[in-house]
Amino acid sequence: MRKPIWRGAGLWLVVVAACSGRAEAPPEPDAGAPAPVLEPVLPEDPHSFANPDEARVRHVDLRLAVDFERRTLAGAATLRLDRVPGARDLVLDTRGLEIRGVVTPGGDSLRWSLGEPVAHLGRPLRIGLPAGVELVEVHYRTAPDAAAVQWLDPVQTSSGSPFLFTQGQAILTRTWMPTQDSPGIRQTYSATITVPEGLTAVMSAEMLTPEGEPTNAGRVFAFELDRPVPPYLIALAVGDLAFRSVGPRTGVYAEPGVVEAAAHEFAEMEDMLEAAEALYGPYRWGRYDVLVLPPSFPFGGMENPRLTFATPTILAGDRSLVSLIAHELAHSWSGNLVTNATWSDFWLNEGFTVYFENRIMEAVYGPDYAAMLEFLGREGLKAEIEDQLGGYESPETILHLDLADRDPDEGMTAIAYDKGAAFLRTIETVVGRERFDRFLRQYFDAHAFQPMTTDRFLAYLDEHLLAGNPEWREAIQPEEWAYQPGLPSTIAPVESRAFETVEGQVAAFVEGADPGELPTAGWSTHEWLHFLQSLPRELPEDRLRALDAAFGLTESRNSEVLFEWLRLAIANRYEAAFAGLEDFLVRQGRRKFLRPLYQDLARTDWGEAMALRIYRRARPTYHAISRSSIDEVLDWPRDD
Ligand code: BES
Ligand code: ZN
Repeated sequence: MRKPIWRGAGLWLVVVAACSGRAEAPPEPDAGAPAPVLEPVLPEDPHSFANPDEARVRHVDLRLAVDFERRTLAGAATLRLDRVPGARDLVLDTRGLEIRGVVTPGGDSLRWSLGEPVAHLGRPLRIGLPAGVELVEVHYRTAPDAAAVQWLDPVQTSSGSPFLFTQGQAILTRTWMPTQDSPGIRQTYSATITVPEGLTAVMSAEMLTPEGEPTNAGRVFAFELDRPVPPYLIALAVGDLAFRSVGPRTGVYAEPGVVEAAAHEFAEMEDMLEAAEALYGPYRWGRYDVLVLPPSFPFGGMENPRLTFATPTILAGDRSLVSLIAHELAHSWSGNLVTNATWSDFWLNEGFTVYFENRIMEAVYGPDYAAMLEFLGREGLKAEIEDQLGGYESPETILHLDLADRDPDEGMTAIAYDKGAAFLRTIETVVGRERFDRFLRQYFDAHAFQPMTTDRFLAYLDEHLLAGNPEWREAIQPEEWAYQPGLPSTIAPVESRAFETVEGQVAAFVEGADPGELPTAGWSTHEWLHFLQSLPRELPEDRLRALDAAFGLTESRNSEVLFEWLRLAIANRYEAAFAGLEDFLVRQGRRKFLRPLYQDLARTDWGEAMALRIYRRARPTYHAISRSSIDEVLDWPRDD
């Protein structure tokens, strides 16, 4: 087993409540005593310049004004620190920020300097800390092209008002505030955000002023999150927003023209929340709301505490894509409560969450439904290993990735998600569900609001679940799961009876059946997805036309079904679907849909020009995250 690289000399050394009790003289250094450390002790994070062993941010207070004309957030971040007695500097992460000054709340200037930029990471901001200073106020302004922030013109929103949202994960929070941008560093936060009259600000925090306070400069919204979170979970959105309650603790925010559809789609959120609590213990964040963003949001969902950010492409009208909400909700435990210590441990966030998502879906919609979802996940995992990740021997298929000198975004593959979930399903199958559920609940309680590494998880698993049963270890092979490529032979199989029926219909179609005659009535979205994924990749045009005519695939309003159909259309150069393809690429910006479609096009001799033509038109409407992925796929000239 690999050894973690821990900062400091040991795990449980003396803790100094650094900087509290200013009046007391610092303790005399004692030659035999271990050096004082700040808790928790953190592993080295190759994606942050911060020095949390010396000075660690514990609370952030933001005062920002939102300027849609200049596309900037401007104001100050006041950081409250803990520091060890000898600490001389505070080192923060920044990327593209214009630093205007650093002062104490009393107004004394502090010495500061920005280091050289490093690819992906930005620049360290080093602030000199005179004795006794535990609050620093950084005055700054964001760049108009800050990667975390997308500024939307009125034409890009359904309301016709401007809109902005931030996306912090993995290391983008530093593009909108100076911060110790490492997932092991937790802080509480508060904020006052000034926005133009008529707009509403929301954050991943409790809203203290639901209507905002009118001032000369616009309307001021105040927020507070009293639970400590890593910087990647601090999030802001501003737009013309309406709210609908769907349960006692749950509700949706969206632009007024979308909010009813969102409330209908997510009507079962409270049931999901109750199911999750029954599995893993109390929800610790107060409310759980979902913000439905305009269609350029680059992800399906983002688990910002108390307020999941979600793409409108899951508003299918029939609640068939709500497992995404179960996923983001599950992050309230796996990810937001117990957090990957570095991005190399990303599977601890996502693999646990995919497993829990499935358990929530099973509790609310039944085991057959959940089995279909799990089956699709497993198939997707195999396809990605084979087509994208270099096969079962590839180091890219290891759960614990070494991401030093790489963009942590590169770890966002099906490995973290579906291999991670398969690992947990395998443990469950070996030790039994009841015992595994007890273990997980205990794991969350024991590590709440703490970072977690792969090694520590394996040690905890050994100690609290596998100890005394060597045959379980044997049947699982935890180290192989965490540190070896491919899929271990111990993997628990998934079966779906519903999909066996679907496969029968695929066979009938391949043998020449008229698609209109196939017994597809009552199929859910997931049966359709399995049907489309199981069809031969090469089909004659008349068969594609027959499918399209029978099932209205090019016209589908279900984004997942449409996506699978469009991939098949590209594979066969089925031109009748191309207007629909272009429309889909232009009207939404979800990277999961965009990247494979552009890639499929670019791989053909006839499609590359088409991809470039569409991309030229759509690129300005995409978020920086989607843009940078597709730039790479299409070899687009870099613009930074
Ligand atoms: N936390 C992720 C999104 C993320 C991961 C953003 C890494 C930036 C870096 C979120 O929970 C997620 O996994 N979203 C998925 C949907 C989910 C149902 C698999 C997505 O956006 O596709
Ligand atoms: Zn996730």
